[in-house]
Order: sequence, then C-alpha cells, then structure tokens
Amino acid sequence: MTLLISGGTVVTGTGSYAADVLVDGETIAALYAPGRAPAGGEVVDAAGKYVIPGGIDAHTHMELPFGGTFASDTFDTGTRAAAFGGTTTIIDFAVQRTGENVHEGLAAWHGKADGNCHIDYAFHMIIGGVDDEALKAMDALVEHEGITSFKLFMAYPGVFYSDDGQILRAMQKSRGNGAITMMHAENGIAIDVLIGQALARGETDPIHHGLTRPSELEAEATRRAISLAKVAGDTPLYIVHLSASEALAAVAQARDGGRNVFAETCPQYLYLTLEDQLGAPGFEGAKWVCSTPLRSRHESHQRDLWQGLRGNDLAIVSTDHCPFCYKDQKELGRGDFSKIPNGIGGVEHRVDLLYQGVVDGKLSLERWVETVATTPARMFGLYPRKGVIAPGSDADIVVYDPAGRTTISVETHHMNMDHSAYEGFEIAGKVDTVVSRGTVVVARGEYLGRKGHGRYLPRGLSTYLS
Ligand code: URP
Ligand code: ZN
Ligand code: ZN
Repeated sequence: MTLLISGGTVVTGTGSYAADVLVDGETIAALYAPGRAPAGGEVVDAAGKYVIPGGIDAHTHMELPFGGTFASDTFDTGTRAAAFGGTTTIIDFAVQRTGENVHEGLAAWHGKADGNCHIDYAFHMIIGGVDDEALKAMDALVEHEGITSFKLFMAYPGVFYSDDGQILRAMQKSRGNGAITMMHAENGIAIDVLIGQALARGETDPIHHGLTRPSELEAEATRRAISLAKVAGDTPLYIVHLSASEALAAVAQARDGGRNVFAETCPQYLYLTLEDQLGAPGFEGAKWVCSTPLRSRHESHQRDLWQGLRGNDLAIVSTDHCPFCYKDQKELGRGDFSKIPNGIGGVEHRVDLLYQGVVDGKLSLERWVETVATTPARMFGLYPRKGVIAPGSDADIVVYDPAGRTTISVETHHMNMDHSAYEGFEIAGKVDTVVSRGTVVVARGEYLGRKGHGRYLPRGLSTYLS
C-alpha cells in the first residue's frame, strides 16, 4: 500500500525544496520532482504546505510518580495528544529511584508503555541511586536494551539527587560505554535551604518556587556538571530544560572550547515568565510550577534562549511534558509551594509553538525542523530511521499548513489536563496531517490512529558528537 504526499515543500534541517514523497508500507520509498511520482495508492494533497519529519520530543514524563501523585497523562493519552501536535516519537524517562533496582525500574516503564502508545517511543533512564549495582546496569542497558542516555539530578535531595562523587562515577561509566549523560542542573542542596527559609518567613505562594531557585544556582550546577564531565574523560553532557541566561553562557563557553556539551530548552522558557504566569494571583501560579523554574521577564533569559537556539548553543527543544491537573494535584501545594508537584504539560504544542518562532522571525524554517526533529534523532541515536525525510527512513511525516491557525486551549487540547499552560495562545500555523510509520494518524483535526500502533525504539549511540 502506497501513500503519496504531493505538491508540498519538503523542509529539512539543511534546506527546503518542492518534492512529492512516496511512502511504501512503513517507510519512505522515494522523493520525486513535483508531479513525477507513479500514480496509484492514497494521496495526501500538500499543496501550499510544508512537509516535515515527524517531531521527536526527547523529554517527556508520562505517568511519572512525583510529589505524592502521578503525572496525569498515561502513555495512551499523552502519545495521542503528541500525535495531534505533530510529534511522532517521544523519548520518555524510565525511573530508578534511590534504593530501587535499575532493571526493575525499566521493566516497570515498559509495562506502562507496552501496547498503549499511539506513536513510537524510546526511553532514557533516570539513575536516582548511583551505586555499584546501578553502574553495572548502565552498561547492560546500553548493550542490550537500546538505552544510551542517563539522566542524573543535582536537584531534589532525597528523591533523585546524586552528589558530585556519584555524578562523577556515573559519568565515567558513560565515558566507557558511549552513553550521554543528561543533567538536571540545579544546586538542590542550596535550593532546599532557600525553600526552608522562605517557608519560615510565611512565603508560601507559587511564585516562591521560582524565587527560591535563582538562576545563579542553575548556572552554578551547569558549570559544575561541565567540569565533572571534563574530569570524567570529557564525556558528552546534555543539560536538560535549561532556562537561565547564565547557564546558557556556561554551555556556550564549553562548546566554544570544543567540548561535547549540549543543551535543550523548552517552550515554557521561551514564552512564559516568572511574573506573568508563576506570579499569577492567588494559587493560580501553581499551574506553572516546574523545575528549572520560569525566569523573570525583567532579565534577558527569554531573548537569550531564542538567540541560543538560533546559534545552536541550544540544540533541541523538548517539552519536559510532566502534566498535573490543577484540581487535586497542583492543589496538594496550597499553603506550601514546595509541595506543588513540579511539571508543565505541553507535548501537544511544541511543534506549533516553535513554528511561531519562525513566523516571528526568530528561527528559520530549517532550524525549526532541526530543533524539533532532526537533532533529537541524531543526538539520541535514532537517526536516520527518524528525524529526516529520506528513502529508507520511517515514514513519520507532518504536513504543516502555514496558512492555518491554532488556538491553544484546555477546551480543545487532547492532553489529560484540566488547564492549559498556554491558554489562549494563537499560533500562525497548523498541523494538517500526521503520518506515523506510514499510517495517517491525524487528518485535518480528525484522529485516525490507534492505541498500540506505537512501537518501542531501541536506540543506538549518539551520532551528534564531534
Ligand atoms: O518540573 C519538572 N521538570 N518536572 C519533571 C521532572 C524533571 O525534573 O524533569
Ligand atoms: Zn529535570
Ligand atoms: Zn523532565
């Protein structure tokens, strides 16, 4: 069975051109000059539209246990919502917490995802308890399980936190087995002191979540992680959810020095601020409690992040999708901001929100595609199966309508959340058609996919390293 995507402009990380894309079964068979493809099979009319590789969200947390509750999207609801928004692959974080076994943590994550996903998925592994057994397991995961990236935390003492010695040992292990170390870079020990002091002063509102996590403590941790990675044999390092200008400067300096240091940011840090969202009246700001926190609009963070994206000091935009409903979940922190579950949901909106950057003149079309699809595939060992429109690659394709409009709202989104972090945002562009491994899963707002279509993707080593 063939599918022809005809009449569109194919956008890749390196250029854009008119071409018809022929899909045969689950993969891309060929690209043709417009009108030259063989007739027959199903046709998607892409005239006037962009044809881009399906989005890859390299940072999601479906069903993550956090703060006494669970992220509200399951692999079923979350991957369906992702598909609506033009994302055809997620890389979620399997979890080992302190005292738990890595292999058991991974098995539990497979148990959650298996048979429930609407799009393809892969896993990173959170190592929340670095010890001899966990270090041994890291080798096994790279060799046998297709997991080639490990997230460590310099924050959340008592939950996921690793001290510098543990971080160094895990980095040395990754240096040996070829994995990438992903780092939540915030000085969690100092932050806990600030939290305790704020609560003692009676400062309990959501905005104090941000005020007790100053950008300097993100920058300090980022610099420390960069140093530790150097000591660990210059092992590759990827800073997750970077939000602060000073942290970006540290990444840029390392990169200028030729290091394999990379970073992602997230749409919330590009569009939302400490004052406007986290500082919303009453308890409303809880909707935007996440870590790293939203940053002040009176400093230069948002502008610097866009600049970093343009120049590749920020390589990727992921969502850090970790949704919690306002009612009963965010509300766990009424009267004590430190008890608000940390996370924002956005897996459905990343491709659109970054396209708005193209419309606003902040990114080129090609850079849009690179940051939402191609670089995530290369960074995390999925390329060229994913992240590119080329013969032999999986037919994960989005037809994007630049003449369309998207209004983001809880009334219309598909994520399992009772609010939207981007309520009322208007995007000058719209996802038209989404193809996942050759199957049309979304067509002009109608859902045609199915739970169980998504497959686990064992990943190879990164092909993004210099
Ligand atoms: O607030 C966040 N980011 N929640 C998810 C867990 C993490 O640190 O990524
Ligand atoms: Zn994190
Ligand atoms: Zn995260």
